[in-house]
Amino acid sequence: MKSDQYLLLPGPTPIPHRVLRAMDRPMINHRGPEFKSIFEEVIDGVKKIYRTKEYVQIYPSSGSGGMEAAVANFISPGDKVLSISAGVFGDRFAQIASRFGAQVEKMDFTWGTAVDPQKVKDRIEQDKNGEIKAVLITHNETSTGAFNDIKNVRKAMGDHPALFIVDAVSGLATIDLRMDEWNLDVAVSCSQKAFMVPPGLSFMAFNEKALKVQQQNRNHKFYWDVALGLQYMEKGQTPFTPPVALYFGLQEALRMMLEEGLDNILVRHANYRDMVRTSIKAMGLELFTADDVASSAVTAVRVPEEIGANRIRKCMLDEFNIVLAGGQQRLDNQIFRLGHLGYIKELDLLAVIAALEITLSQLGHSLEMGSGVKKAQERILAKKGLS
Ligand SMILES: Cc1ncc(COP(=O)(O)O)c(C=O)c1O
Repeated sequence: MKSDQYLLLPGPTPIPHRVLRAMDRPMINHRGPEFKSIFEEVIDGVKKIYRTKEYVQIYPSSGSGGMEAAVANFISPGDKVLSISAGVFGDRFAQIASRFGAQVEKMDFTWGTAVDPQKVKDRIEQDKNGEIKAVLITHNETSTGAFNDIKNVRKAMGDHPALFIVDAVSGLATIDLRMDEWNLDVAVSCSQKAFMVPPGLSFMAFNEKALKVQQQNRNHKFYWDVALGLQYMEKGQTPFTPPVALYFGLQEALRMMLEEGLDNILVRHANYRDMVRTSIKAMGLELFTADDVASSAVTAVRVPEEIGANRIRKCMLDEFNIVLAGGQQRLDNQIFRLGHLGYIKELDLLAVIAALEITLSQLGHSLEMGSGVKKAQERILAKKGLS
């Protein structure tokens, strides 16, 4: 019997039944009062998740569309941009900026490590004439499972006038991010990660400073135009036909998130991270990132060459219907990535850890059966104060 897939990806993530049921509704007029009320509720909810009182726009796109919207609206052709990267998604932001005519200066960090705020400070301090117009950075580098200390990187910029633009696609609502308190200018995220909604919506939060830059922006844009979005927002609408069913889902998902509470959501994800990491170590596998930069959204596991990460993934899928993500680009077959964000429960992780032990054993990796599960169980008890 084939059961539902266990989706342990860093997106798309499993969809709660409440969200599925909310989407299963007849279509409504996207220019009518019912949509207006949903639209206003979700804009307000997304702002709460960003911890902002400023602006949020929602685009019908994946996360990369949101990144492109950020570049098209806030960076002009010829602008000098410092693009900080420690993996695939940091590289993507640099690529998008470069396609839109920015002069991109890359600052690269070793994949699997985090961005060093001091290096950013040193570079920013050299820019005495304020030539750098924007700094691009990834909150949680999903390709490696390392997160960046956004608060301190932003602090490292001091009062340099460049816009600070964050890709928080997989980091938002899994790792703390405080738009207003940390003075972030633009931050992008999307529906299929911690928001527990199918792919298809991206979110872009921005502040007044960014809006002023946008008003002078010289890049071509039509679909992504923030000015148009704000104009329609006053009517409780979007400029173009929105994916209405996804809005139904987002409304319900935000209700669930706000019922749980953002702080509790962050603690839950940190617990998942610790549970997975401690059990992976007990199985004798190597983690790709150090503990102090380890993501609460996804854990990357280095796999001995003789086994190969993709064989583990195939075996987990064939035998247990568990879907793990592979390594991207140069990390293909070297790591697998276990996503633990969104609508994931402890029980899912216990099952996955148990299945992984069986798989590893079948593939010839020597481990003590139950060692990973035991660590995970101990963590659950410790969390309850029972050990
Ligand atoms: C950090 C980060 N940025 C950008 C993206 C791109 O998002 P999408 O695949 O939705 O375009 C992803 C996707 O996983 C991501 O994790």
